[in-house]
Amino acid sequence: MSEVLDFTPPRRPSRNAHRLAASPMPLQVRGLSLELEGKRLLDQVDLTLLDNGITVILGPNGAGKTLLLKCLHGLCQPTSGTVLWHVDGLERPPVLEVRKAQALVQQKPVLLRRSVLANLKFAAKLRYSPIPQGLLENALALARLDHLASHAARTLSGGEQQRLALARALILKPKVLFLDEPAANLDPASTVLIEEAIRAAQSAGTKIVLITHGLSQARRLADNIVFLHRGRILEHSPADKFFSEPATVEAEAYVRGEIVL
Ligand SMILES: Nc1ncnc2c1ncn2[C@@H]1O[C@H](COP(=O)(O)OP(=O)(O)O)[C@@H](O)[C@H]1O
Ligand SMILES: [Mg+2]
Repeated sequence: MSEVLDFTPPRRPSRNAHRLAASPMPLQVRGLSLELEGKRLLDQVDLTLLDNGITVILGPNGAGKTLLLKCLHGLCQPTSGTVLWHVDGLERPPVLEVRKAQALVQQKPVLLRRSVLANLKFAAKLRYSPIPQGLLENALALARLDHLASHAARTLSGGEQQRLALARALILKPKVLFLDEPAANLDPASTVLIEEAIRAAQSAGTKIVLITHGLSQARRLADNIVFLHRGRILEHSPADKFFSEPATVEAEAYVRGEIVL
């Protein structure tokens, strides 16, 4: 039977709980495979994300990066394997805790059919009661969208929508933030803005898992790299090591900017 998230009731921390509790957001993936239309798109993925750093998922077009992120987030049901969360030292946290612990900003952001401000307010109400003074104003300023606060969110440009989606996700203060190509539509100034916001969130204790196509962005942001190729993880290593000594021919070619099939 496939199992996307382990929803069994919470257990008290076990013998190795001290190790789990030391890390605010351990996430373990075991033997995760995904088949769609008869094709194996993710193949026996094993991955442990423990620290607070920035993990960048790299890989050629069609490698399965977006599908993997969706499986981690719970949006996509794997054919087999497990995505196991540990929240605040609990090995099997309640599903609500798992949901609250994470946020995903998709490549094409999903925004409410409301104003920019109303989108931010919606997220703020999920997290706070009452909404702290200045929170929405700060979020608008972070996304540089003050002048568009009353505009319909879905009429914004692609880049503005991405900035809004990131600001909205940050309001939730998730333990882990999944970002699928957050700078895909952004001009250079907005890219700097987004990267600063991502680093600030990481410094404030949010684990970042980010897909990018930009090798230079990966070099700027990554603490560690997951290299995905044809649905399989070929490498998971510190960023310095990945860029200086890629361990596979596929990663080596990718780092050189060659087309990897
Ligand atoms: N719903 C789907 N049905 C069938 N194939 C899919 C579906 N979604 C994605 N794929 C295929 O899975 C592969 C990986 O997709 P994706 O994760 O989006 O790649 P990327 O690494 O570029 O993000 C691609 O070949 C894509 O065509
Ligand atoms: Mg993708």
